[in-house]
Amino acid sequence: MKNGLEDVVAAETQLSHVNGEAGELIIRGVSLDHLVGHARYEDVVALLFGGLLGPAPDRAELAKRLGQKRVEVFAHVPAIDDALLELPPVDIMRALIARLPDGDDLDTALRLLAAAAVFLPAALRLKKGETPVAPTPALSHSADILAMLGASVPSKEEVAALDAYLVTISDHGLNASTFASRVVASTKAGLTSSVLAAISALKGPLHGGAPGPVLDMLDAIGMPENAQVWLSEALDHGERLMGFGHRVYRVRDPRADALKGALKQLSAADPANRDRIQLAEAVEQSALAILKVRKPDRPLDVNVEFYTALLLDALKFPREAFTGVFAIGRTVGWIAHAREQALEGRLIRPRSLYVGPMPQKAA
Ligand code: ACO
Repeated sequence: MKNGLEDVVAAETQLSHVNGEAGELIIRGVSLDHLVGHARYEDVVALLFGGLLGPAPDRAELAKRLGQKRVEVFAHVPAIDDALLELPPVDIMRALIARLPDGDDLDTALRLLAAAAVFLPAALRLKKGETPVAPTPALSHSADILAMLGASVPSKEEVAALDAYLVTISDHGLNASTFASRVVASTKAGLTSSVLAAISALKGPLHGGAPGPVLDMLDAIGMPENAQVWLSEALDHGERLMGFGHRVYRVRDPRADALKGALKQLSAADPANRDRIQLAEAVEQSALAILKVRKPDRPLDVNVEFYTALLLDALKFPREAFTGVFAIGRTVGWIAHAREQALEGRLIRPRSLYVGPMPQKAA
């Protein structure tokens, strides 16, 4: 038995390959370096869905249908009532997605992609007492998300930065949420059920819940010269440094640099963001040096969440929404894995090792 299934191979996949020793991520045959900055969100949807949901529509048709689905799901936004508004944004998304029909076809898949993208901005606006902004189907998916969030036309640079983020996090091997999606798919429950299970796994702080706390940490540190003392004290108190460490990567997470590059491009003209990046780089250097001394046997490096926090902050997503934006980007991977599992896999049903008491034998 392997606690946490560490190093256990539990599925064959053609979708993505995480090389933890080399710090490399391949998505359906394409290295992440070649995707980020070149591919838009819709390209990665076409790449990951190809062959898994019937004949794939071409990119233009896919973008059009995705736009129509954003309009369709916007009709569910009035279901966000006062009780739901009390919940964190990712929980509001989950509750609204639970209203959608289950299914295994491209229509269901596109509806789920659209739902994640529409429900988060609407929930965030309603939480601030603002009216939700209806989708604009002619916009690209990333542009429309930002337009629904800010009620204004986003800049080219902002759209490119969100595309870079969504592409970077689209799929990542058999992480906890993707495994959850595949477990549900293995019972043939349907794509909506798979996505709901995956969101639930994603929201924990050991998985997709880390970037908000990364920003809290940077705020608390405040200035580069405070980093060393602050980080040492956090570790003295038994805390984990958010944005560091990974189950698979033993070197730098390649997604961290992809996002750092996107952030630097976005921030070229904004001094406030430049200061933030400088602080983050100083914190990163201090953390890596301290972790090396404190945990000499466990290589701990920066993970995707560290620069996610800065990029999403620069795009004006509030920090409590970061896990929800992660869900928007990862839904395509969850769906592709669910389809792969349903088409090729068996029911996932491992066994447990019973370590409890045995019944008393009758005397
Ligand atoms: N800060 C300090 N110490 C750490 C950290 C960290 N961020 N991560 C791991 N360690 C230490 C552990 O305390 C442990 O030390 P010990 O053996 O002396 O007790 C050792 O490294 C191994 O840790 P595990 O928990 O066994 O590693 P695991 O593979 O289970 O954890 C995880 C991976 C959950 C990501 C972990 O590194 C962590 O908690 N990081 C902080 C949270 C975070 O950034 N999460 C986002 C991950 S990326 C993603 O899911 C998208």
